[in-house]
Amino acid sequence: MARTALTFRFLAEPQHVNFGGKVHGGSVMKWMDEAAYACAAGFSGRYCVTVSVSGIRFVAPIHIGEMVEIHARVLLTGKTSITIGLAVRATEVRTERRRLATRCLMTFVAVDDAGNPVSAPDYQPQTDSDKRWAEYAVAVRQANAEMEALLPDGE
Ligand SMILES: CC(C)(COP(=O)(O)OP(=O)(O)OC[C@H]1O[C@@H](n2cnc3c(N)ncnc32)[C@H](O)[C@@H]1OP(=O)(O)O)[C@@H](O)C(=O)NCCC(=O)NCCS
Repeated sequence: MARTALTFRFLAEPQHVNFGGKVHGGSVMKWMDEAAYACAAGFSGRYCVTVSVSGIRFVAPIHIGEMVEIHARVLLTGKTSITIGLAVRATEVRTERRRLATRCLMTFVAVDDAGNPVSAPDYQPQTDSDKRWAEYAVAVRQANAEMEALLPDGE
């Protein structure tokens, strides 16, 4: 059975600091992209490219020295696309207090060596939670399509 989830864990280092002394939002986005890529590529057995990033919400800051967990899971698949849900949690290591820091959806497309989209494996949500997240991913995709339809052609 294809692997549908993974977690990256590491400490936030001083090099990740922003001008306000917390972890830089750009670092969080890079970590999410890496975890989501590894999840999509591991699930599909294919090289995957990012086609969209949606619903990003920075819920709470991450402090330098905290343990960062990036959890990536498959939420939805189409013919060639794989939508990954990301939850970033931060833990203060001495107290073990853990909180949600960021969440986001990223959609990847499985591609061949020439960069052309190829079929992705089918994913069927099992639990009630899986089904709720799949519904959320469908709703976000529809909302994005409606917004893109408002754009002038080619812009
Ligand atoms: C991703 C890419 C290969 C898709 O090629 P394409 O000719 O547009 O292919 P399609 O129109 O058939 O779309 C492919 C899939 O993407 C999905 N997709 C397209 N736009 C989307 C969007 N805004 N959000 C979510 N999914 C989207 C389509 O629904 C389709 O999914 P499905 O096959 O499951 O139905 C092409 O757009 C590309 O190369 N983009 C650049 C990728 C990149 O450089 N990423 C950053 C670095 S990894």
